[in-house]
Amino acid sequence: MRSLLTHLECGRCETSHDFRKPHRVCTECGGPLLARYRITPGAVSIQTVMSRRPGQHRLPELSPVQGAEMPTLGEGATPLLKAHGLAVDLDLPNLLIKDEAQNPTGSFKARGMALATARARELGIGRVCLPSAGNAGAAAAAYGALHGLDVHVYVPESTPKPIQGEVVAMGANVVTVDGSIANAGAALKPVAESNGWFPLSTLKEPYRIEGKKVMGYELFYDLGRLPDVILYPTGGGTGLIGMWKAFDEMERLGWIGPERPRMVVVQTTGCAPIVKAFKRKEWDGATPIKNPKKTAAFGLRVPGALGDFLMLRCLRDSRGTAIAIDEIDLLDGAKAMAQKLGIQCSAEGGACVAAARQLRSKGWIDRNDITVIFNTGHALNYGE
Ligand SMILES: Cc1ncc(COP(=O)(O)O)c(C=O)c1O
Ligand SMILES: [Zn+2]
Repeated sequence: MRSLLTHLECGRCETSHDFRKPHRVCTECGGPLLARYRITPGAVSIQTVMSRRPGQHRLPELSPVQGAEMPTLGEGATPLLKAHGLAVDLDLPNLLIKDEAQNPTGSFKARGMALATARARELGIGRVCLPSAGNAGAAAAAYGALHGLDVHVYVPESTPKPIQGEVVAMGANVVTVDGSIANAGAALKPVAESNGWFPLSTLKEPYRIEGKKVMGYELFYDLGRLPDVILYPTGGGTGLIGMWKAFDEMERLGWIGPERPRMVVVQTTGCAPIVKAFKRKEWDGATPIKNPKKTAAFGLRVPGALGDFLMLRCLRDSRGTAIAIDEIDLLDGAKAMAQKLGIQCSAEGGACVAAARQLRSKGWIDRNDITVIFNTGHALNYGE
């Protein structure tokens, strides 16, 4: 069960980089680096994988971690829940909720950080940092503690206090910055450079996405096929890009054919760079938003993303769409998920409920489509 990792490849110019060394972005063009594996049809059979214990690390052949032992906090293998009362409400009988709130630290960010910190440790990196809306910072603090790393997190001052407290409780250093995650990133950059901290920012290192892609694999493990529609609350886009990468790997493994779900990017009306670019058919990148509005869905307040072109290509190639949701509707969506299903729903998950409602009423989602909503975080991370 050895990793089949062969190299890192730039998502933009395809230049190859040696995975045995620490890398951030492409040395040629600054694009995000993606892990590439020696994948042949049947290299790993689905039966073999299904016979293993469920969890984030069920497919070590397609994981970048080289060591045999992977310390874990129990991340992954989150439930894919039937939407019962919400399914009736939205007129979507085949609606399912992938409940990522059940990860350690209460969000899907655990998946990426588990891999990024494990690789940092393998590569001899001891001090890491990142700007975060909150959930990624909490996950970095937890997995940094697990792997014995020194963690520095820069967050917008609007980041909920419970998350800031959680990061500190796990031994990491928190600095608050006025503005959005982009301002936090700008404040962190010179400090990180002068202190030699290794950045774990979204897509500025190659391994977080390898953790996120497992969400795509798990949909297949649970359904025995891919869903028709996936609604994803999108900020930096690692979840969306990661799942799209997983589907491509699954096809090369011979598990599926060329069929793909229609992918839906869900953002907020106060910060919707990908929705704007999608509407203009700008497949090569999105214009950053100048004044991103504050929102309860703080993970979606990302004015510009390094992987914008990868998200846009995923939307184009999947015949998907992108939709911006008003604050009142996303809060209503979270309430509906909580009150009709008993799920601890984040505002980001609520945005996907609202998106499903709107796309169903326009007829973009068919009544019988197998539709998956991602609840990416836990409601308790938002309390004040
Ligand atoms: C709960 C939640 N959902 C969604 C997102 C957006 O995720 P991504 O950056 O993978 O697009 C975030 C990011 O912080 C988040 O915390
Ligand atoms: Zn490049």
